Amino acid sequence: MGKKLLIINGPNLNMLGIREPELYGKQDFAALCAFVREACDQAGAEATLYQSNHEGELVEIIQRAYGVYDGIVINPAAYTHTSVAILDALKAVAIPAVEVHLTDVQSREEFRRISYPGMACLKTFAGFGFDGYRLAVDYLMSYLKEEEKKKEEFV
Ligand code: DQA
Repeated sequence: MGKKLLIINGPNLNMLGIREPELYGKQDFAALCAFVREACDQAGAEATLYQSNHEGELVEIIQRAYGVYDGIVINPAAYTHTSVAILDALKAVAIPAVEVHLTDVQSREEFRRISYPGMACLKTFAGFGFDGYRLAVDYLMSYLKEEEKKKEEFV
């Protein structure tokens, strides 16, 4: 059965290409979206992409994913390091989620080392640029297929 993935990008990721290109690269947000769509197509996943600069909106999009999506790929951007609300939303819907960061957050400022949403994610890919999204999609799809297999074996 086809899997539906929700790809969520947080604040300032819409500024890619303009924002600190030495860190985040020269490609813009439209290029990231095209890259993610292609990765989902190749993995056989149906993708919905969403970006917001607002924490509450990110919480709502996660809540609305309940019962609709099979998996979530999320780059919470700056809210990674502050948002218990996004962590709680991911826990509330309990949809398998994978965290992505373009940069290697562990090797940057101290305050970027903590990830609240990451605590509700199966895995984190950080420091791989756009490729991190492809890694996350592939990881999530393998995970979902394994889970499906387990269920079939159980029946
Ligand atoms: C980011 C890393 C965050 O620390 C930062 O606030 C971002 C982008 C990344 O993709 O590397 O906005 O999530």
